Order: sequence, then C-alpha cells, then structure tokens
Amino acid sequence: MGDDAPAGLDTSTVHPARRYNYWLGGKDHFAADRESGDQIEQAHPTIRLAARENRAFLQRAVRHLAADAGIDQFLDIGTGLPTADNTHEVAQRANPAARVVYVDNDPMVMAHARALLSSSDQGRTCYIEEDLREPGTILAHPQLRDTLDLSRPVGLTLVAVLHFIEGQDRARAIVAELLSALAPGSYLTLSHGTVDFATEQEKAYARQVPGVHLRSRDQIAAFFTGLDLIEPGIVPVAHWRPGIPADQLPTPHDIAIYGAVGRR
Ligand SMILES: C[S@@+](CC[C@H](N)C(=O)[O-])C[C@H]1O[C@@H](n2cnc3c(N)ncnc32)[C@H](O)[C@@H]1O
Repeated sequence: MGDDAPAGLDTSTVHPARRYNYWLGGKDHFAADRESGDQIEQAHPTIRLAARENRAFLQRAVRHLAADAGIDQFLDIGTGLPTADNTHEVAQRANPAARVVYVDNDPMVMAHARALLSSSDQGRTCYIEEDLREPGTILAHPQLRDTLDLSRPVGLTLVAVLHFIEGQDRARAIVAELLSALAPGSYLTLSHGTVDFATEQEKAYARQVPGVHLRSRDQIAAFFTGLDLIEPGIVPVAHWRPGIPADQLPTPHDIAIYGAVGRR
C-alpha cells in the first residue's frame, strides 16, 4: 500500500501483521513496518525465507487436518493480512463445507476482511476483531458461536502469534483456556519464533526487539501439555512434513521458528 492509509488507522507504529506482509512481499505496510522489518532483516538475513516457510507450514498443517484428519472447522487466531492461500481457501479446497473463524487485533486486517470472507458456497467464514489476550471474549463471541459447533472438533491455529504475548505463564493460560473450550479430537497448530539456534549476538539483538517474546523448545512444548503431538513433533517449520528431500531444507538457524501440531 503506498502510504495512503484507510481513515483512522494508526500507521506511525509498527504492527506485526504489516511487517510480516512486508517480509512476504505484500503491499499492505507503512514506513514504520518497513523500517522495523529492515532492521530485523539486518540481524537475521533469512527472515523473509522464514516468513514464507512459516506460511507454508500453516498451509500444510491445515491441508493435513482438513484432508486427512476430518477437521471441518477452524479457529485461526492471529490471521494476518490476506495473502495467497488463506486458511479457508486451503481447508475448503479439501472440504468445501469447512468453516473458518478468523481473529486478529490489527484493524488493518478488518479493512481487508472481505477477502477473508469469500467462502465457498457450502462453507462459511467470519472475521472477529479481538485480542488473543482475551480468550474468553473470543470464545463467547456470538459470531464464533454462530459459525463453529464447539461440541465437535475444531482446528485451533496459533501460527506466529504467541510470541507477541509476554510471560510464559500468561501465554500458557491463554492456550489452556482456548483448548479447554474445544471438544476432544480438536487440534492445536502452533508456530513460534525461537533463539534456540541463534548465536549469542543474535540472541542479544532478539531480546531487545519490542513486543517480541521468543521461546525455547521446552517452553513451546509446554503449550502442548495434555495433547498428543503428531509426527514429526516440534521441529523448525520448514521441517514439518516438508515434501522435499532433507538435503534441500533450510537450516534451523535460518528458519528460527518451531512448528508443531497436537491432538486433544
Ligand atoms: C506474523 S503474523 C502471522 C499471520 C498468520 N498466522 C501466518 O502465520 O501466516 C501475526 C499476526 O498476529 C496478529 N496478532 C499479534 N498479536 C495479537 C493479539 N494479541 N491478538 C490477536 N492477534 C494478534 C497480528 O496482527 C498478525 O496479523
């Protein structure tokens, strides 16, 4: 987007959805997002590759759940700006009756919600502007209740969003509250930035990026307490059921984002 913002939108501070859109080569970002994105790219030159691999992980996981695991309703929190192959497009390709509720706290996503609401005729989508830090509000939302049947399994996706939540206990409590509302047989698809593969210099830089709280593999594993991880467990996103030979995969250092899927 040039720098002509929709009326009322704060473009002076960096927003994760817009910075991510910049890394993915999209058009929906402003100077503050580009500046922050460039600074992070200087410290971690493969960040654009990591963003693309994260997106591809989300798509592979949703495809697997919709096509092979019989999941026909999804709750996608931390939606991001619409781009190619959003969750409902991937799910509805496997099952045209699939339903998707999207949740994001960036009003810019709302401005693009029409693209997220272009459901197949048999399926349904809706978009709720809410905050992951208020899981009770999300779960009680009339539009969510109208779209999803919580007595049946749901695919909850928290992909590249939990690392914006400060505090391990708080993040764990949020995930636990969301999962406790979902029926047995539901799935959690999660990806999360890490410094597990970083040099000391990279770790020092990552610690001072505002609003980002990277976690270790053990901390990320804690989000799956009580769930059964499906193969291959918690791995760098590019290594999760990649469909290309192992010797062509980017390194864990270059990706620096773990991904995993667990069944409740
Ligand atoms: C890095 S993007 C990931 C988008 C998408 N899940 C993906 O992986 O392609 C993170 C998204 O989470 C959203 N987000 C960040 N903090 C949030 C919060 N507290 N509540 C809801 N959404 C949030 C951002 O606005 C952004 O759209």
